[in-house]
This record gives sequence, C-alpha cells and structure tokens, in this order.
Amino acid sequence: MVDLCFLTENVKALALQAGNFLKKERLSFDRSRVEQKAAHDYVSYVDKASERLIVDRLRQLLPEAGFITEEGTGSLEEQEYCWVVDPLDGTSNYIHGHTPYCVSIALRDRREVLLGVVYECGRDELFWACKGGKAYLNGTEIHVSDQRVLDQSFIELGFPYDAERYRAFAVKVVEELYGHVGGLRLMGSAAAEICYVAAGRFEARVEGFIGPWDIAAGYIILKQAGGMMTDFSGDENCFDAAEVFASNGKIHQDLLQVLEKNKKLLEKG
Ligand code: IPD
Ligand code: CA
Repeated sequence: MVDLCFLTENVKALALQAGNFLKKERLSFDRSRVEQKAAHDYVSYVDKASERLIVDRLRQLLPEAGFITEEGTGSLEEQEYCWVVDPLDGTSNYIHGHTPYCVSIALRDRREVLLGVVYECGRDELFWACKGGKAYLNGTEIHVSDQRVLDQSFIELGFPYDAERYRAFAVKVVEELYGHVGGLRLMGSAAAEICYVAAGRFEARVEGFIGPWDIAAGYIILKQAGGMMTDFSGDENCFDAAEVFASNGKIHQDLLQVLEKNKKLLEKG
C-alpha cells in the first residue's frame, strides 16, 4: 500500500508549482499558438508544458503508476495505480484571460480514487482530500451545504464540447430548472466547480460527456466533504463515467429525477 499522506503532500506542492507556471505563462500568453482538438475544444502549448512538468514529477514520486492525462502524455498500462491528470482544466477560460482555471491531479487504484488535489489559480485556492481523511481548502476543513430544497439550490451546469450529442438534453434540463432553482451558472472548469460544491458554495453540478481527468480529483474531494457523485442513473461508481452529477447529497434525489427522466435525449456516440 502506498503512503497516501506523503503522496498528498507532494501532489499539493506539485499542483501549486504547475498552477504558478500557468499564471506566469498567462502574462505573456500567445493566442496564435492555440490549437483545436475538435470543434470548440482547444489546447495550447501551456497545457502541454504543464502536463510534461506534472508527469515528470509524478513518475519520480511513484514509478510504478500509469497515467490517464488529458493531453495524452504518459501511458495507461495495466498498473495497480494510475495518476489521472488535467494539467489545465478551464482551457477556454485561460485562453480568454478568464477564471476559474485549475490543475487537477488524482491517484486511483483499480477500485477507487485514493487522493485528489485541485489548485484553482484565479482565487489561489488549493483543495485536497485523500481516502479516509477530511477535505480541505487552503488548510481549512470544508463541507457541503445543508440546503435540502431544490427551489433554493444554486446549481452549476457544464456544457461539453460535443454539442450535437448534448444539446437536446441540455436544453430540456435548463428549461426544467430555470426559475425552479435558486440560480443556474456556467463557469467553465469542471474540476473547480465540483470543489465549489464540496466547499458548500453550490448545491450541485451537472455535465455529460466529460473526461476522467475533469472529475477524478473532484470526486474524492467532494466525497470526503460529505457530498455525492453519481451518473445520471444514480450509480455512485462513476469516477470515470461520462455523465457526472455532483451534489451536496441532500438534493440529489430531487435533481436526479430531472436528469434520469431526460437521459434518453443524450445521443449515443
Ligand atoms: C473542460 C472544462 C469545462 C467542461 C468541459 C471540459 P478543459 O475541460 O472542464 O468546464 O464543460 O466539458 O472538457 O477542456 O478546459 O480541460
Ligand atoms: Ca484540460
């Protein structure tokens, strides 16, 4: 078994280092060097350099672990342990000089997520948690909110890049929630937003067709803060699912009804 406290401390330092690199590069960011991976899905030289920095350090830290990374550095082999890395979550925000944007690093074994660290650069907020422990923001324990009423709940939505497959579902969910919840927001960084649910700022966050790097770290931070994550059918074993519904747990069933009922609108790829 790996030493989770030791690894978490090192991953916190690494997330800060990579985040500070992102902030520094932002000061002289060259927008002409942005590439497009798919329609409206962008990557820059900064995402790639951040990923190299993170992967190099993680390789030293736990040589036996494999990798799942957004920009494809490293390799996923059949290892017991696997790092799940988004070197820059919120790339579109970053490109436009907007926040939030963050670094997200998680370690999982074959069964579960063991630790997660998210550093949101704009607000200088470091979130972390590991299996069996509490969830923290800049050293202070965090908890999900106590809100139980959907009508009073502050909800974040994420719209995945694959608009054609998601559009009908998104439109229907917005139609059903708009005016019937405390507020709807779209912020552009899944990893940061899941941490905001963990910290009690929002009651829930919903998105489909998302990558494991966007959610793995947030998954354990939310769980250790008392929250809940499922897919749109209510399955909690979803840390690498494509549909992600994160909540404070207390409004989960009420909002799940809306998602479950409209799930058939999701186009299968
Ligand atoms: C994206 C962001 C965005 C979400 C997208 C993700 P990226 O990640 O988390 O909020 O809506 O689905 O792909 O591309 O900025 O790393
Ligand atoms: Ca990314």
